[in-house]
Amino acid sequence: MTTHYYTASSLDGFIASPENSLDWLLKQDIDLEGPMAYPAFIQSMGALAMGATTYEAIQAEEGDDGWPYTRPAFVFTHRQLNASPGADVRFVQGDVRTVHAEMTAAVPGKDLWVMGGGELAGQFADAGLLDEIWVQFAPVTLGAGAPLFPRELDLELVDIARNRAFLCGRYQVKDAL
Ligand SMILES: NC(=O)c1ccc[n+]([C@@H]2O[C@H](COP(=O)([O-])OP(=O)(O)OC[C@H]3O[C@@H](n4cnc5c(N)ncnc54)[C@H](OP(=O)(O)O)[C@@H]3O)[C@@H](O)[C@H]2O)c1
Repeated sequence: MTTHYYTASSLDGFIASPENSLDWLLKQDIDLEGPMAYPAFIQSMGALAMGATTYEAIQAEEGDDGWPYTRPAFVFTHRQLNASPGADVRFVQGDVRTVHAEMTAAVPGKDLWVMGGGELAGQFADAGLLDEIWVQFAPVTLGAGAPLFPRELDLELVDIARNRAFLCGRYQVKDAL
């Protein structure tokens, strides 16, 4: 089982605007059946992890279908947040090593997806628990926003693709610089 940080980014390394908007991303063209697209990626994922800002952003966008994930979602927060009806959401905090073990046990035999933000993905890397980083770079710069990955890390490029508007890269984590 391996742990993957899979996300989209602006070309200058931000995963959301300073206002936490994803409008710059959602307007881009992508082939969902194309290389490195989300539907194929999610097939091998078991539990997923996200920070509170990401969780609240997903909740704010929930449509009539409600919470969009069927996998157990581990949400890191220091606060009391509400779970969406019917969602398998588990609120956690503190050391990612403890939570990583819980995620592994939640869906045995499947890989783990760290959705973000970048600082949370960095906590997994700090603990030596991040194996891969997948980034879909959108053709836009934001100048500021939520950082892609605020760490110094040595990576190995293992796959590349173009998916319509996106430059996609898959990297293996080697070591902290
Ligand atoms: N482009 C993409 O594909 C993509 C993917 C994912 C997310 N996003 C967006 O990127 C932005 C990310 O926001 P963000 O940088 O603020 O990161 P975030 O990870 O979503 O949220 C950060 C918050 O998570 C909580 N947290 C993190 N580590 C914790 C720990 N060890 N224990 C307890 N709580 C912990 C804290 O919340 P509290 O202290 O407030 O409880 C912290 O303020 C969001 O706007 C999201 O929608 C974009």
